[in-house]
Amino acid sequence: MLNLRNTISIMWQTISYVSTANRFLTNSDINELFEYVKVNNNSLKITGILMYSDGNFFQILEGEKKLIHDLFKKILLDSRHYDVIKIFDHEMTKPSFSKYNSNFSTINKRSEHSELQQFLEKEKSNNPETFKSISYLTNKFMQLS
Ligand SMILES: Cc1cc2nc3c(=O)[nH]c(=O)nc-3n(C[C@H](O)[C@H](O)[C@H](O)COP(=O)(O)O)c2cc1C
Repeated sequence: MLNLRNTISIMWQTISYVSTANRFLTNSDINELFEYVKVNNNSLKITGILMYSDGNFFQILEGEKKLIHDLFKKILLDSRHYDVIKIFDHEMTKPSFSKYNSNFSTINKRSEHSELQQFLEKEKSNNPETFKSISYLTNKFMQLS
């Protein structure tokens, strides 16, 4: 009998962008958004990070291709931000992050930091043309100690 488990393989997609936060957003609005995104993405097995710093958002999304594209369409229409600039949108063999995290400009846990480093290493070898902008942006958004 045909073993379906081995024939169905998931198509993984990753999208990253930066955007400008709507100036009416308060810190508590942002916290509320972070909490919603963390819960919703983790329940959909979407991994990555969402960060806010100095009026800008930076997001990395990884997950099943259609899920990621559908979510990104919704995000583009969200009035809580504007001027969304896509950094990359490509397939990947498997996700780098183990869960979804939303943070105010700092990655506190060592594990989150090492997953981001792994993600950057993969980008460097697979997508050298976007690696420069992504590593520049992650450094800008984070005050890594
Ligand atoms: C900067 C930013 C990032 C967002 N990221 C996500 C996300 O990763 N996952 C998510 O479910 N919603 C995210 N949202 C919220 C969506 O735009 C949308 O409000 C949410 O998915 C609920 O949509 P629905 O009620 O139409 O299903 C984000 C919004 C903003 C402003």
